[in-house]
Amino acid sequence: MSSPGAAAALWLAAFAFAGCRVVKPGDPLLGLTREQRDRFERGRAVFDSVFTPETGLGPLFNSTACGECHEDPKSGGTGDEVEVHATAFRGGVCDPLVQEGGPVIQQHTTPALKQALGIDAEPFPPSATARAMRTTPVIFGRGLLDLVPDSVILSYADPDDKNHDGISGRVNRNVDGRIGRFGRKALVPTLREFNDGAFVAEQGVTNPSVPTEETIGGKPIPGGVDPVADPEINQDQLDLTNDFVRFLGAPTPERLGGEGRRGREIFSRIGCAACHVPMLRTGASPVAALRSKDVAAYTDLLLHDMGPDLADICLGLATPAEFRTEPLIGLRSVKTFLHDGRAATPEQAIQDHGGEAAGARDRFQALPPAERQALIAFLKSL
Ligand code: HEC
Ligand code: HEC
Repeated sequence: MSSPGAAAALWLAAFAFAGCRVVKPGDPLLGLTREQRDRFERGRAVFDSVFTPETGLGPLFNSTACGECHEDPKSGGTGDEVEVHATAFRGGVCDPLVQEGGPVIQQHTTPALKQALGIDAEPFPPSATARAMRTTPVIFGRGLLDLVPDSVILSYADPDDKNHDGISGRVNRNVDGRIGRFGRKALVPTLREFNDGAFVAEQGVTNPSVPTEETIGGKPIPGGVDPVADPEINQDQLDLTNDFVRFLGAPTPERLGGEGRRGREIFSRIGCAACHVPMLRTGASPVAALRSKDVAAYTDLLLHDMGPDLADICLGLATPAEFRTEPLIGLRSVKTFLHDGRAATPEQAIQDHGGEAAGARDRFQALPPAERQALIAFLKSL
């Protein structure tokens, strides 16, 4: 075993093994069983499959496939589609405007619907008090976020700011009282519910969990416009998609050099980590690859008031100015930042933080240029 060839082969094997332990954007979790890996691959095929009116698309839709929006750099990533959402906030109460087609206002119609009603998009709800633009987020590592126990999220909440750090943080809740965590306003409690709902809200594809179509601005779909029998996909296709999404790994942060390590310290020192909690731990799961795992999440999954400049719609208990701390998982794949993509760089995103995050923003602005640069180098490693 002492020949140079054998040593090189051993070194290569060790290198390949180490390489295997790294999750790249779009890769599955480490440690899936063969069967789970197989379901991940088959689920990706459903996630990427393009629907047509003949296979259930529409009559209202935003795009033709999950993977048309969540596409960059791999399925499950980001994309350039921007959605329109609308709700009404009156007297402190949020109305999702379901009776007028809210909160997601689809931007496309099938040819049959266009012919029947002469519209290219769902009409904007007349009672809306705000319009929100929503860019497509990366959904890497969401299966891990799904399994962070509610008790952990609640442990970070400080709705009355009892520790006087200027940061409160509170949970959103679904209509039935369950704690929400998915979507930029953290309304949806579980990953499965988000995925099941996305088929209908984004593609007009009904499924066993959500068996009826969206209305057209609150009005029923004209007869003959959508002849495909509901549900338009079956339980197997739905379960496979859910497995693909929940088995998507959180990309391993790139190895930090000296500058990046300094940036990581500055991130904590100036208070970014008060909301972007660096590490969360998952709870129980029958899937070993998801059970009791640390995830470099950089979120507390709570709502924070981000100030009037970022404010748009209310959703559930979230007021117009409140947003969920965006996880920074896979940030290196993100192309435009903040909920509506208004920030072209991470620096701009920080500069646009207001409200509860104003203190951290001001401390960032006051840093010497080399320290600001170190913080950005750290962010780009995520
Ligand atoms: C038209 C583009 C588009 C399509 C198609 C689409 N999505 Fe999304 N996705 C988005 C946007 C925009 C959001 C953010 C929504 C929000 O914050 O309210 C999102 C959010 C998500 C989230 C929540 C991420 C988080 O951090 O909370 C998941 C999970 C998700 N999508 C899965 C899917 C699945 C599964 C499909 C297919 C059934 C799908 N998406 C189809 C644009 C799209
Ligand atoms: C009070 C809580 C809070 C603090 C403190 C905070 N953030 Fe944020 N951060 C958020 C919220 C909420 C969002 C999502 C806002 C939105 O989408 O409009 C966000 C979004 C971001 C984004 C954009 C992510 C994306 O994918 O679009 C970056 C980058 C970011 N924060 C970095 C930082 C850094 C660096 C600091 C410290 C200087 C910091 N944040 C401090 C709550 C906070």
